[in-house]
Amino acid sequence: MHSFKLTLQILTVLSFGLALVTTKSIGQYNLLRIPDTLSGTHFNLTIKDTFAQIVNTGNQTITGGINGNFWGPTLFLKKGEVVYMNVKNNLNDSTTIHWHGMHLPAVMDGGPHQIIPPGTLWQPYWKVTNNAATYWYHPHLDMMTEEQITKGIGGLIIVRDSIESALPLPRTYGIDDIPLVLTDRDFNSSNQFVTVPYGDSMLVNGTLRPQYSIPGQVVRFRILDGAIERSYNLGFSDNRTFYVITSDGGLLNAPVGVTRYLIHAGERIEILVNCTGQAGSTVDLRAFNSTLSNFIAGGENFVNGPFGNALGKKDFNILHLNINSATNNPINTIPATLTNNILLNSSDAKITRHLTISDSAGVPGILGPNAFILNHKLFKFDFNDYEVPLGNTEIWEITSSSIFGHPFHIHDVQFNIISVNGAAPAAAQAGWKDVVFIPGKAGPNNTVVKFIAKFEDYADKIHPFMYHCHIALHEDEGMMGQFVVTGTTTQTNYSQSYLNEFSIYPNPSKNKLFISFTDPDNTVYYVKINNALGKTMYMLPRPQTENGIDIHYLSPGIYSIQLTDEKTKSITTKFFIKE
Ligand code: C2O
Ligand code: CU
Ligand code: CU
Repeated sequence: MHSFKLTLQILTVLSFGLALVTTKSIGQYNLLRIPDTLSGTHFNLTIKDTFAQIVNTGNQTITGGINGNFWGPTLFLKKGEVVYMNVKNNLNDSTTIHWHGMHLPAVMDGGPHQIIPPGTLWQPYWKVTNNAATYWYHPHLDMMTEEQITKGIGGLIIVRDSIESALPLPRTYGIDDIPLVLTDRDFNSSNQFVTVPYGDSMLVNGTLRPQYSIPGQVVRFRILDGAIERSYNLGFSDNRTFYVITSDGGLLNAPVGVTRYLIHAGERIEILVNCTGQAGSTVDLRAFNSTLSNFIAGGENFVNGPFGNALGKKDFNILHLNINSATNNPINTIPATLTNNILLNSSDAKITRHLTISDSAGVPGILGPNAFILNHKLFKFDFNDYEVPLGNTEIWEITSSSIFGHPFHIHDVQFNIISVNGAAPAAAQAGWKDVVFIPGKAGPNNTVVKFIAKFEDYADKIHPFMYHCHIALHEDEGMMGQFVVTGTTTQTNYSQSYLNEFSIYPNPSKNKLFISFTDPDNTVYYVKINNALGKTMYMLPRPQTENGIDIHYLSPGIYSIQLTDEKTKSITTKFFIKE
């Protein structure tokens, strides 16, 4: 059940006691942390409870990290390659890891259904088909996303492809190509994170009051709004023009020069900033949030209550930049063009789906009067809102009666925005997106946002994809729905009597376990290996069993192997002995 920790933001100016409004943003600068990198095709990610010295003085902060002690490594993927993830959950809680923006099978997606119990290894893999751009991975456990993201669990994904690689763009990571993960956090008096929608202190890559040195040339920043809730109205202290080169899921046709860019939770942009000839000077990347409306996250000016925070409706520094001399072979010009996006055509749409955003006041059966909801209901784990036929091009039209704005995100696809209240998207959003901001309604008319997407490649009647508000608080409260993509290829009826029979060999086994089916056309859909106590040790979506399942990590003993077969999706259990 979804319960309401917190309710409609507009109405919570009063009560709930005093929020701790102390900003840890005074004092000297800290060197911006740059996340480590991993590249290749096999990635080992260990999620753990840990701690980090985030506040300069006093206690370390209890955090969640992936491999390191806050946030996780940046994964470099190449379009066209198959990547294999070894995700080990060493937290004391269950979690999931979702590959935000990636196009992949639902069973590999890491949404709320792909729960990784503590101590379990989850091994999804997929062929990278996304365009070069910046993506990210993060926990997505139902009702726990806010808490687990607050701990710092997540990481960036940088996809490279041949089009982007051929362009004269900066791409030396940490030198002229710099990742910026924007979040804000609330710390209690012993320097521990408080799980609240808005923090009092700005963090970039987990760094308070960051500064960084950049060369005097064109510098690329890959910016993720990784906040629980806040939007950032980005700009520079000298109001210089910067150039947006990507929307969430790929390059724009050409750089778009702006002096402000309003980024919402879950969104990414890459920007170019021309610092040629500016060695010796400094400039700050700032959030100009004082100009935001009260109905955009971060534009409220609550001092007290659950949404009270020191940064609300304020302008504040994000990153202090010291411009140094140029590197060898610098990029000194902003390219005129980038790519040639072939966007989806409305006349190819097979259906228009009508979704609504509203607040829950007066909706029967919903506890608490004032959450935000999609389609007049809370998220239901076992209910598919839509069945999308594989290969469909669809228009999704979202009508919002909420006065508050919501960043809407959908899994599986990258889409093109068709219109926001009838107007074409701004140039910097006229490409591939996976988050679209649904502005709050102003005046009597509801907001209407339309996008178009094509649902290709992966059909699966069992595992759904999600769509939801990317404000983690709203998502956790139930502002989420799900759909399955259904394909004709999986509709055939098979007799369940013997086709799912399989055998495992050798048994006992030391290093590798092989699986064979009675029906040679059948394949493995899912494998779970549990120990004698019933604890899940491995979760293997569609394992490539021809090479055997590597079990050398398991300690000796008896295990059960639970296999779901591809054709019938029925589950059979066998036992084996690990020597
Ligand atoms: Cu970034 Cu469904 O999530
Ligand atoms: Cu996502
Ligand atoms: Cu929302």
